[in-house]
Amino acid sequence: MKRTVITNKITYVEPDSMAHFSSCAGIIVQSNEKVFIDTNMGSEETPGLLELEKPDAAVITHYHLDHSVWTRYVADHSNARVLIPKKEEPYLTSLDFIIAHTAGPFGMSDQWTDFVVNQRGYRPLTIYECYSEKASFQDLVPEMVILETPGHSPSHSSFYFPDEKILFSGDVGLDRFGPWYGWADCDIKALVESILRLDGLEVGLVLTSHGGIIKKEIQKAFFNSIHHILRREEKIVRRLDKGMNKKDIIEQGVFYSDKEKIREPFKSFLNMWDTAMFNHHEALIKEGGLMAFFPEISGMS
Ligand SMILES: [Fe+2]
Repeated sequence: MKRTVITNKITYVEPDSMAHFSSCAGIIVQSNEKVFIDTNMGSEETPGLLELEKPDAAVITHYHLDHSVWTRYVADHSNARVLIPKKEEPYLTSLDFIIAHTAGPFGMSDQWTDFVVNQRGYRPLTIYECYSEKASFQDLVPEMVILETPGHSPSHSSFYFPDEKILFSGDVGLDRFGPWYGWADCDIKALVESILRLDGLEVGLVLTSHGGIIKKEIQKAFFNSIHHILRREEKIVRRLDKGMNKKDIIEQGVFYSDKEKIREPFKSFLNMWDTAMFNHHEALIKEGGLMAFFPEISGMS
């Protein structure tokens, strides 16, 4: 685990490894109370971090496993309140719901359930509170602004500190891989709107879940993430124009290329996520493509 002190209030924490969706980077905020956001350092390190830091609250940006599984052992290792995004409550409290709204539609329920439960330790959350953009963390961190930034997930949230101009952007896709929308409940248009919303803030430093710290050329990072989506769309259009079919396009890769050498079940998972991402692009292309909805992105570079 690596700790980076950002201000006297905010510490950025990164796990040693982010392999197989087991962890993500997060922040520890010391304000009126001590709040952990997305501090999933993996199953070995998170309990110790909770015991050492004794947070008052444990917050997640969205329900995806790499961000949320640690909420299950918060109660065993601390007295922290667990706070989850209101609209994603059913994903976090019902195994049937999360499977039906993730791998279910792709015929991968059994393999995914095994991974989610046995490898990643999913258990339905029972003790928690819900937050939403409207309900601020007044008692915990009054200076922090919650921003709903959906698209990557139905109710993904980012956290903004206007006084310091610092943004914790969670999983909106500011890393070198670009935005991810590999479930049916993802939404490309909402995701682009969210990125544009964050781009509209005055930000001097961005802390991300999977792409480290962004200090320079922040606006470029936002543009690049949107351009990732645009380039994927253009690639799909070119391949469709050439007469390639859906199966071959997915095999060549929408987000994940070189899937051949990956071992199971991950190979099937990657294929499932690329299928979902293709489906999102296909639907958008039928509506006229990304530029039809966001003409302003043509001028971004
Ligand atoms: Fe995610």
